[in-house]
Amino acid sequence: MKVSIIYASTTGNTEAMANSIKEAVASTGAEVVFGTADNADASSVTSSDVILLGSPAMGDEVLEDTMEAFYTGIESGLSGKKVGLFGSYDWGDGQWLRDWEERAKAAGATVTESLMVHLTPEGDDISKCQEWAKKAL
Ligand SMILES: Cc1cc2nc3c(=O)[nH]c(=O)nc-3n(C[C@H](O)[C@H](O)[C@H](O)COP(=O)(O)O)c2cc1C
Repeated sequence: MKVSIIYASTTGNTEAMANSIKEAVASTGAEVVFGTADNADASSVTSSDVILLGSPAMGDEVLEDTMEAFYTGIESGLSGKKVGLFGSYDWGDGQWLRDWEERAKAAGATVTESLMVHLTPEGDDISKCQEWAKKAL
């Protein structure tokens, strides 16, 4: 199984989530494609069995810019794919992830329940990321 984990992160919080997720996915023996949205190869991602994408809540409950650009580029290739969305936030209630889920569903993806962590993942958050990753496969 090939699993892509692509993320954007401005201060390292979503990156820390992505690293925990990567560790859990790699431990299952899956082939992992891992990297940032500004540097990711769209065709390698859309040819994956499972696509896990991370972005912090930015602007006013929107995706971080490089993830918005990358995601727009792969959106038409998500039909029939298993997709999981994650990210860090601060003061909101998760609207950016709910909107992103709707977009992915509209693109024809099967979307796992999203995972959000308040600011920096610490304590239980790390194991939550790892459990989420295994369920998302
Ligand atoms: C310009 C800017 C806009 C933000 N907008 C939101 C927002 O709309 N909702 C929210 O819950 N948090 C918002 N945040 C907080 C970030 O989502 C939060 O700091 C997050 O942990 C950043 O994750 P990162 O280190 O992966 O970039 C914003 C932060 C900045 C700097």
